[in-house]
Amino acid sequence: MTLLIINIKELLQVRETTIDKVSGAEMAVLPTIKNAYLVIKDNLISDYGIMENLPAITADETIDATGKMVLPTWCDSHTHIVYAGNREQEFVDRINGLSYEEIANRGGGILNSANKLNDSNEEEIYNQSKERLEEVMRLGTGAVEIKSGYGLTKAGELKMLRVIKRLSQNYPVTIKATFLGAHAFPLEYKENHQGYIDLLINDILPEIAKDDLAQYIDAFCETGYFTVSETEQIMEAGIKFGLKPKIHVNQFNSIGGVQAGVKYEALSVDHLEVMKPEDIIALKNTTTMPVALPSCSYFLSIPYTPAREMIAAGLPLALATDYNPGSTPSGNMNFVVATACIKMKMTPEEAINAATINGAYAMGVSVTHGSITIGKRASFIVTKPIPSYYQLPYAFGTNLIEAVYIEGKIII
Ligand code: NIG
Ligand code: FE
Repeated sequence: MTLLIINIKELLQVRETTIDKVSGAEMAVLPTIKNAYLVIKDNLISDYGIMENLPAITADETIDATGKMVLPTWCDSHTHIVYAGNREQEFVDRINGLSYEEIANRGGGILNSANKLNDSNEEEIYNQSKERLEEVMRLGTGAVEIKSGYGLTKAGELKMLRVIKRLSQNYPVTIKATFLGAHAFPLEYKENHQGYIDLLINDILPEIAKDDLAQYIDAFCETGYFTVSETEQIMEAGIKFGLKPKIHVNQFNSIGGVQAGVKYEALSVDHLEVMKPEDIIALKNTTTMPVALPSCSYFLSIPYTPAREMIAAGLPLALATDYNPGSTPSGNMNFVVATACIKMKMTPEEAINAATINGAYAMGVSVTHGSITIGKRASFIVTKPIPSYYQLPYAFGTNLIEAVYIEGKIII
């Protein structure tokens, strides 16, 4: 099956060779080709170029993209889209003055979602989660990382990871799974942290590894959740079982989580709303990708990741949604890109780099995703006719997506 797209007004994020990420300085440049064509063979990108050089090819289908942009699908490297029910009551409680922390201390928050998840069967959770996955695919996401972490019991965590595996088998979108048993301490382990960590490490992790249910390991390193040394124990155990760390750090407090992530060569450190100068320095010249989650800052009214300071220090940055029922009930990467520009002062070029190639790095898929490169997966967005790609963040509430292709298949 050969698909030919012609007269593309601008083809974005074109990279001749596979690069794994772009650094702070390089993020300012978004390589594009104006008046371009793109050739797809089966599920892969097989050729592209300027229209004047269009070779004579017989295509099964030809699409005229006059006036439209084509760009790689978003790589959303941080989500929790497998969950049960919602937390809309907590949303209203926060409007009425309670803080995220106060709600958690009353037994709400992550523990509220854990109760709902443990009360739901696997089929119910799968059905709710697939709706969210289909929604984000329609919004242009072609690769997504999904975390466990609302089970907090052996049965609940394994149930979540099996749902993630089933989603990855049933949908063309590329899915990576992360074990986040260390998301919060269940009430029965409130005074026995080591007991819960032992359960995660000695009982649940071996089972996950045996059934190949996760590629990454995560912990919520934060005051009131997992300390740095508890997080280090979790990362160390994960690494022994072949799971690379990708951790939640610096959401509300800077307590040394960034440094711990760097020490254990985490693939990414995520959130980073509160960054001390030493946290930025610690990330320099490392293989750890900083990930910002601006729609979480938006929803909780907390600070935004200081992107300008980080980019000025030469750090790369990725953008992800954090789609979850408590702090970000939205999986819209278009909104994330717009909010990064509007609130974090990232340029459109930086934000698109952060949501594609750097997002791909942060979930370990840059060999196959994140850019228009020959041999990569044919996962791309076709926009409606727009004057320039600035429209993507500028017209922040408008859906500018006309079509989404994932691995060569049209989704919408
Ligand atoms: O990334 N910060 C920790 N975990 C999630 C939110 C969890 C929840 O409130 O359900 C996050 O924001
Ligand atoms: Fe998260």
